[in-house]
Amino acid sequence: MEKMPYREGLETQTRPAIREHVVSSDWRTGLPVLSAGSVVLRDLRASDAPSLFALLTTEEVARFISPPPTTVEGFERFIAWTHREREAGRYACFAVTLKDYDTAIGIFQVRDLATGFDMAEWGFAIGSQFWGTGVFETSANLVLEFTFNTIGVRRLEARAAVKNGRGHGALMKVGAVQEGVLRQSFEKDGRYLDQVLFAILAKDWRGQRPRVH
Ligand SMILES: CC(C)(COP(=O)(O)OP(=O)(O)OC[C@H]1O[C@@H](n2cnc3c(N)ncnc32)[C@H](O)[C@@H]1OP(=O)(O)O)[C@@H](O)C(=O)NCCC(=O)NCCS
Repeated sequence: MEKMPYREGLETQTRPAIREHVVSSDWRTGLPVLSAGSVVLRDLRASDAPSLFALLTTEEVARFISPPPTTVEGFERFIAWTHREREAGRYACFAVTLKDYDTAIGIFQVRDLATGFDMAEWGFAIGSQFWGTGVFETSANLVLEFTFNTIGVRRLEARAAVKNGRGHGALMKVGAVQEGVLRQSFEKDGRYLDQVLFAILAKDWRGQRPRVH
């Protein structure tokens, strides 16, 4: 999701959790550790703030996503917010780490689209030093398995700025299908950008399940 739902200053607001859809509940008290190949995904920790600040605030990473927090303390508040949203059952955010290198190098977010997690939206960002290394694809396949099999999502959406070709390539290689263009749907630096809407259906993912390396 290029529009990260977190905003500085929103931490004190509360929304009722929607729980019409029956989902596995234990992930709400703590995300499972997911691993494949060289990748380990886990819950965020406050101590991840410095590395996420260093890696996710660079121009090339932040170009097409909502402005990330601008300080280490801002990332600490974001991480605390992710835990509260998870406990409310409407959001999950994994830290991307590497085996034998327990430093957060990116994040994957999945949020309920106010449907009791029948439909959700995901988004991701990884430090540019790790682009093109396979970390994205391995992580994405782990998150897809969690989203469809553990949370029970039926339809998973993503929005990517039309100009974010790398984001499009990343989404398509894990099975996302382009469905249309959302005109002027994303405000970035005072300008409205068009976004492509992508989606993956659980039934399609089960039919052509990607191999986790
Ligand atoms: C999105 C992101 C996590 C993907 O990770 P990554 O390691 O760069 O992804 P990969 O290299 O595995 O896959 C990207 C694919 O897009 C392709 N690609 C690169 N530029 C492209 C372009 N302009 N148009 C189309 N495809 C492009 C790459 O060749 C690659 O495909 P390949 O592996 O078949 O060669 C990472 O680029 C990132 O953090 N970007 C900034 C944050 C962001 O934009 N997030 C929102 C994404 S919707």
